[in-house]
Amino acid sequence: MNKLLTTLLALLVASATGFAHAQSAPASASAASSAPATAAAAANQQGGKAAASTPASLQAKIAMCLGCHNIIGYQASFPEVHKVPKIAGQSAGYIEAALNAYKGGDRKHPTMRSIADALSDQDIKDIAAYYSKLGQEGGSAAPAKPNNEPSPQVAKLLKDAACVSCHGANFSTPVAPNYPKVAGQYKDYLFVALKAYKTENNAAVGRNNAIMGGIAKQFSNDQLKALADYIGGLEGDLKTVPESRFHGKEH
Ligand code: HEC
Ligand code: HEC
Repeated sequence: MNKLLTTLLALLVASATGFAHAQSAPASASAASSAPATAAAAANQQGGKAAASTPASLQAKIAMCLGCHNIIGYQASFPEVHKVPKIAGQSAGYIEAALNAYKGGDRKHPTMRSIADALSDQDIKDIAAYYSKLGQEGGSAAPAKPNNEPSPQVAKLLKDAACVSCHGANFSTPVAPNYPKVAGQYKDYLFVALKAYKTENNAAVGRNNAIMGGIAKQFSNDQLKALADYIGGLEGDLKTVPESRFHGKEH
């Protein structure tokens, strides 16, 4: 709970001063913020307006997420500098599974663990439903086939691990509700996530997942980076939707 309070305090300070500052790891790391982050943090001050159709109870829960997941290009610095993942437009079942994995400790990321710890099962369901629909008013933006051809090297890696058999031909139509959409996710985040499935015996870094663990461990980090760069460059449904979206800004 203390860690969560620290995070929330950091966010309060951020919106009070209009200067975004949040920590990606409670102990050390200071997050690098970018110009759009500052603008969006300022927009957060008018937060309430933006979610007119969202019940107040849900709005209060989502307020805990806005300072990181609703700021375009917002950087985390743990375990290395990368953008905070896009969760708007993600499958609800996967958002739920991911939050439960942080809560239960299968995912080690310290900040997300303390945040997920503070959420009830109902909170997790409500939040997952909210983010899965956020920014999807126009329907799915994912083309049926990837809009870019992979290089021969990447094509071989994709084939060897049959990535599309689970994530869908366009990497946006996963075969199970608790599998993620990955097309268009931030490349640097995808790389960090893929490496996390290989990491074991580390209290602060890593993801225990039988499926992706078995897959990621077959590849070198260079190969995982090539996969992340390709998949992150595809068009898909995932977005970071800033609080100012009702004023016409979206990404
Ligand atoms: C201090 C910044 C911060 C805050 C606040 C925050 N997150 Fe996160 N979130 C992150 C980072 C960084 C990651 C990537 C963690 C990792 O590497 O596993 C992440 C990961 C996630 C993921 C997994 C995404 C994926 O593709 O697997 C979900 C879901 C998520 N957060 C939801 C939330 C929700 C819901 C809230 C509010 C209740 C929230 N986060 C608050 C920074 C934050
Ligand atoms: C047998 C099904 C299956 C296959 C094959 C598969 N994945 Fe996954 N993938 C999953 C599941 C399930 C998860 C969610 C794991 C979790 O909850 O952490 C996942 C998670 C991911 C993530 C993390 C997404 C995020 O938002 O954090 C990435 C990236 C990913 N897969 C990429 C790939 C790539 C690249 C390949 C091929 C090299 C691949 N996957 C093959 C089922 C699969």
